[in-house]
Amino acid sequence: MTDLRAVRAQTVAGDEDERQHAQHPGHRPGLRHLIEILLEDLDAAHAHDPAARTRLEVALAYPGVHALWVHRVSHRLWHAGWRLPARLVSQATRFFTGIEIHPGAVIGRRLFIDHGMGVVVGQTAVIGDDCILFHGSTLGGRSMTRGKRHPTLGDRVMIGAGAKVLGPIVLGDDVQVGANAVVVKDVPAGAVALGVPAQVRFPHAPPSERDRHEDPALLIEYMI
Ligand SMILES: CC(C)(COP(=O)(O)OP(=O)(O)OC[C@H]1O[C@@H](n2cnc3c(N)ncnc32)[C@H](O)[C@@H]1OP(=O)(O)O)[C@@H](O)C(=O)NCCC(=O)NCCS
Repeated sequence: MTDLRAVRAQTVAGDEDERQHAQHPGHRPGLRHLIEILLEDLDAAHAHDPAARTRLEVALAYPGVHALWVHRVSHRLWHAGWRLPARLVSQATRFFTGIEIHPGAVIGRRLFIDHGMGVVVGQTAVIGDDCILFHGSTLGGRSMTRGKRHPTLGDRVMIGAGAKVLGPIVLGDDVQVGANAVVVKDVPAGAVALGVPAQVRFPHAPPSERDRHEDPALLIEYMI
């Protein structure tokens, strides 16, 4: 039989976890700083995607950039106590971009969401700086209890297309998660996680020398 007291205690502890998560520093900058961050997001998409020709094209045609920009605003609404408007803004963005980012998620600087459709980022997820998420990737929970239940990503982490990263696990800096992997355990810095459930490998080449986003579209572009 379910021990309801234990469930309640877990929920209360979970609320506290969520409060601590909400107090994550450095992600609610002043307006001028916010504009700098939005421009950085634009530059990051332009720099990461070899198919991007101009910043104007990125600003107008990249759903990943649009979803991230709106998240920067909805995250501020969320922390200002405007929780329902924050959720509505986030859901409207999901409708237009196919990318669902909970307004409570803490996202570092220069995230690049490539293609975007089907990306899900949960409420208590934390994403470091200079990360890449491909379409269909999920930073999700494994349980329905409250509290910290989504992953924490270090800096320069790449999550391949269709990959699922589940639970309050930690992926260290420079981790690469292969396309379609399902990651349910911590991954140490610099490692590559592949398969279902993901197995961890250490690549021979350092992260800086590895191709961080292999886009088949580029091959087609070279061939024609
Ligand atoms: C995981 C990944 C980063 C590895 O790249 P890498 O360091 O260059 O490694 P390699 O391509 O040399 O592959 C190393 C091994 O992993 C295997 N592998 C690569 N990607 C894999 C994946 N997603 N799932 C399972 N195995 C994979 C390779 O077959 C190879 O196996 P082997 O050692 O038995 O021959 C890359 O393959 C990947 O999945 N990137 C995601 C990019 C993406 O989502 N692009 C979408 C663009 S639209």
